[in-house]
Amino acid sequence: MKVVHTAQDLAAWPRKGRRVVVMTMGALHDGHLALVRQARELGDQVVVTVFVNPLQFNESTDYERYPRDLEADVARLKGSGVDVVFAPADDTMYPDGVPAASVSAGEMGRVLEGAARPGHFDGVLTVVAKLLHLTQPDIAVFGAKDAQQVIAVRALVRDLNFPVEIATAPTVRDADGLAQSSRNVFLSASEREQALVLSRALNVADEQARNGVQVQNVLTQGRAMLESAPEVRVDYFTVMNPANAQPIDSDYRGEAVIAVAAHVGDTRLIDNVTTRIGPRDADPQGDAAWPAK
Ligand code: PAJ
Repeated sequence: MKVVHTAQDLAAWPRKGRRVVVMTMGALHDGHLALVRQARELGDQVVVTVFVNPLQFNESTDYERYPRDLEADVARLKGSGVDVVFAPADDTMYPDGVPAASVSAGEMGRVLEGAARPGHFDGVLTVVAKLLHLTQPDIAVFGAKDAQQVIAVRALVRDLNFPVEIATAPTVRDADGLAQSSRNVFLSASEREQALVLSRALNVADEQARNGVQVQNVLTQGRAMLESAPEVRVDYFTVMNPANAQPIDSDYRGEAVIAVAAHVGDTRLIDNVTTRIGPRDADPQGDAAWPAK
């Protein structure tokens, strides 16, 4: 496994068969490693990028305290079938600081995560576009954990004609249901315990939705469940259309994503599950829009 830091060294690395990229901000955990395993299965060469992208952080304290340990990340990736780790410095990615040209996520960048974090998806799509150009993959693998990110990246490659296939991998959870996240290290023991309410509320909501309970009632009950945890402050708990990340309306039928964002103490966590609104054969298009389960 080679570790390279510059665009030149990455470009000099010979191509062999189908190349698959997994983009990360480091602080690697089992969720990232599951993406790497999927990448290994999908192709012949695996590139992992490690870059904490300043453009996608709308709060400087969040950016500054984001965990960084490249040595530990490289050690975690050893033996996982990765061929190259691309870990560029800030001035390799953004030599002039904030770039003059960048990508806009449009309307979907302003809802849910985008509403809570203005500019976040513009920053994500700008770095994803750059990393796709730099790594030149046939396939890029993203985690369903960041559902709105997957939707935005699919729009990027479709609308700007990137010649790459986007694959998704299911969310990896701890045994008690907490979705793995690089930010989980910030949770105290009691906060971690309370954070379990996120996945519990999602599972209850999924079951209710599948059993035909009206979406408004599902959401009201889910929010009440979340608010019963004293250190949990709900940002949103909603059902979104996997095609465009917009909240679904009352006549929506098909696959949908129940998504939550909440502060637990000082740490903001997100999670989601895929559900189904209405009978299975109501809208076969929903399945096509959201292959990740
Ligand atoms: P990061 O949060 O490091 O996540 C990198 C990839 O790992 C993303 O595709 C994310 O969805 C996936 N991932 C994170 N936690 C996961 C889990 N518990 N199960 C499965 N997959 C998980 O997402 C980013 O970085 C950045 O926005 C990036 C795309 C790298 C652009 O900067």
